Amino acid sequence: MSAPRVFSGQEVSQHNNRQSCWIIVHGKVYDVTDFLDEHPGGSKIILKYAGKDATKEYEPIHPPDAITTNLPLEKHLGSVDLKTVEKVEVVITSEERARQERVAARPPLSEVLNLHDFEAVARQVMPEKAWAYYSSAADDEITIRENHAAYHRIWFRPRIMRNVTTVDWSTTILGHRSSMPLYITATALGKLGHPDGELNLTRAAAKHGVIQMIPTLASCSFDEIVDAAQPGQVQFFQLYVNKDREITKRIVQHAEKRGIKGLFITVDAPQLGRREKDMRMKFEADDPSEVKKAGSDGVDRSQGAARAISSFIDPGLNWDDLKWFKSITKMPLILKGVQCWEDALEAYDAGLAGVVLSNHGGRQLDFARSGIEILVEVVRELGERRGLKFPNEKFQLFVDGGVRRATDVLKAVALGATAVGVGRPFLYAFSSYGFEGVDKALQILHDEFEMNLRLLGAPTIKDVVPEMVDASNLGIHVVSVPSDRLYESNYESMQPARLRVIKTKL
Ligand SMILES: Cc1cc2nc3c(=O)[nH]c(=O)nc-3n(C[C@H](O)[C@H](O)[C@H](O)COP(=O)(O)O)c2cc1C
Repeated sequence: MSAPRVFSGQEVSQHNNRQSCWIIVHGKVYDVTDFLDEHPGGSKIILKYAGKDATKEYEPIHPPDAITTNLPLEKHLGSVDLKTVEKVEVVITSEERARQERVAARPPLSEVLNLHDFEAVARQVMPEKAWAYYSSAADDEITIRENHAAYHRIWFRPRIMRNVTTVDWSTTILGHRSSMPLYITATALGKLGHPDGELNLTRAAAKHGVIQMIPTLASCSFDEIVDAAQPGQVQFFQLYVNKDREITKRIVQHAEKRGIKGLFITVDAPQLGRREKDMRMKFEADDPSEVKKAGSDGVDRSQGAARAISSFIDPGLNWDDLKWFKSITKMPLILKGVQCWEDALEAYDAGLAGVVLSNHGGRQLDFARSGIEILVEVVRELGERRGLKFPNEKFQLFVDGGVRRATDVLKAVALGATAVGVGRPFLYAFSSYGFEGVDKALQILHDEFEMNLRLLGAPTIKDVVPEMVDASNLGIHVVSVPSDRLYESNYESMQPARLRVIKTKL
């Protein structure tokens, strides 16, 4: 085999147009000419970097192997002598300058008192596109708000005169110790919020003894995230099932080999939801004459970061596939995104280790019910039909969506969940403060658990029982006036379409 070619920056820079388009990513040169019209994010953004180093633009919004898996090997041309590459000029706009001033004016972490505060800071200091991707949800964003609001329909029935001198909120999740009954759920594209991306979560999870679920679409590579874990640190893996099952098999078996302790198969995303805040950001960022055009394959390229990275997900995934999953891995299998008791029962009967009752943080089907509401019907029906009691070691129920306080977690635990997943709050924490932000967020939760277990009269998590909550109103879907001012003050209304500013020559 001949040695890979080393190009000069000058040679690469000549391939700077639609007829011959080369780009540099991480010091490697790729010929993307034939790929231009297939790029899910559109050709325009690639052409902007034609003949140049695209690493800075590429990195936060692509999983690290996006190029290598999508581009045939013969298009991997070689490497480049980076000393000879002209630096891409970064123009700092007045908006960006203003943002940087807001970053400098962040409150110190000592003034951050709860998870809502991270969202309030993130909203002001994150780049607009990143904020749009993290905060957006499907259609009219009814479900994302319901996810949080549902917890307001559950009230406590605390017990008194119990010895709560010491309280212990640790538990086990799929047989592994966790310092609290929650885990960091999978959220894609960590580097949009912070250059260290998901590693912020890995490090904070290690420090606090909680479990991190690694997403398929992480910005850091899977191995990088596993390598960053401390010896013995438990990690789960979230899987988007690829249409090419050989790729899926390779990913799953690699995860198992690297010591992953649970495989969470996402089942609520056969197609990605329309997240209009994210989409509108694209409309505003692109040339208006380009954005509505469909590519040669008829795919509309104007759908924001989310659609751009997810076209590989298999909408054909179905119950028959579970046998195959069992044949390729010994990891416990959990379905993430179950939304009614019938499917939870089917998962139980199929011998799975559990389900996550979730609507993907409101990002998929709008008007999907909250995970906490589904939990109540799943506990009831699986109790009646299969005699199961929850929490249950053999078939574990998880819930995610809208959790912002330890009281939310305790409500889910009382109703039968083993643990809950928390997504956005940790994204906002590292987008605003990096590792220290996630560290602080977890510390806040520890403090909240300690206080609330005492006030509930529950010395341990096992003492948090169904009788401690009144969930009788949970199923009533009345949209009330905002009941949580902190949460609502962070909620950013959706924007209607705006007229374009037309510049006229005088
Ligand atoms: C920015 C973002 C990216 C996400 N990416 C994924 C993903 O790649 N795979 C997945 O199964 N769920 C993903 N989710 C859903 C989360 O795992 C989880 O269901 C949801 O965030 C819980 O709601 P919360 O953000 O209110 O805590 C994502 C959520 C957000 C906010």
